[in-house]
Amino acid sequence: QETIPQHRIGFSQCTGNDDWRRNMLTEMKRELFYHPEMQLLYKDAASDSRRQVAQIRELLAQQIDILVVSPNEAAPLAPVIAEVYSKGIPVIILDRKAATDSFTAYIGGDNYNIGKLAAAYIASTLKGKGRIVEVTGLRGSSPTVERHQGFRDALAHYPGLQVIATLEGGWVADKTQAAAAGNDSAVEKADIIFAQNDVMAYSMYRYCHDKGITHTRFIGVDASPYPDAGIDLVSRGVLSASLLYPSGGKEAISMAADILAGKKVPRNTLLQTVLIDSSNVKLMRLQIDKIQAQHQEIEKQQSLLQEQRSLYQDQQHLLRIVVTT
Ligand code: FRU
Repeated sequence: QETIPQHRIGFSQCTGNDDWRRNMLTEMKRELFYHPEMQLLYKDAASDSRRQVAQIRELLAQQIDILVVSPNEAAPLAPVIAEVYSKGIPVIILDRKAATDSFTAYIGGDNYNIGKLAAAYIASTLKGKGRIVEVTGLRGSSPTVERHQGFRDALAHYPGLQVIATLEGGWVADKTQAAAAGNDSAVEKADIIFAQNDVMAYSMYRYCHDKGITHTRFIGVDASPYPDAGIDLVSRGVLSASLLYPSGGKEAISMAADILAGKKVPRNTLLQTVLIDSSNVKLMRLQIDKIQAQHQEIEKQQSLLQEQRSLYQDQQHLLRIVVTT
């Protein structure tokens, strides 16, 4: 007998259009395999906070049992999230935070520590002396603020390291290119560029490459497992390092299942990070390949099982026809 979904999870994603979030959704869908009682209603706000507010209202109208949300920006999303929560619908906030306490649980990477680790890596790479350009995400998204704060707090211990410019790349390549073009004299002088995600780090690399600037090193965040994404870029030597930013997709779905089953869940779940550079990227790659092969095997088994089930149902149906005629 097929399990009919009894619970609706509304998932409001700030944008679906990058590798890191593609990976998040893949992780969610994998975890959903184990929860046939849950149905995912997915909305992609395409980096538009107003659209995301409207989409959360649409999810409400679709009578979701729980909301998972990754807010594009912290302030504009706060009122609608508080409204959902006040209706008694549990809310899990994932990755980016909202400027409200009205939620059930938060799951996300340790963004402050990511900033600190980036600074420590730069200090050891440049032996405590050099010029840095920092490229941040969208000003209103919480990881921008936390990564920046961790970075600055750790840099304060190294008086020989100087941040000569902070550019806002808004998490995306085209904005990063425009910000670089508007600050080209600082970019030319940088020994190292720390961008708050790999998309922007790669964009800065391409900008410098096109300008014939060859002395600069690049550090990003995310370390997603796709071609031209973090792990690949580190193994090709395009980026010197990337800080792994776990998506939390799997954790969000299993926590949603726990909440809907009436279990108590922690208010804050901080996912750990690790710095990936040439010394450990090979090992990371091997582990990722192994996990992916295992998942593919599980997915194959699951679709075989599905086929068997529908075959069985067809036979039962035929049998009923034969018996009743
Ligand atoms: C993806 C992304 C990541 C970044 C995260 C921060 O949309 O920009 O690259 O680490 O969001 O919320």
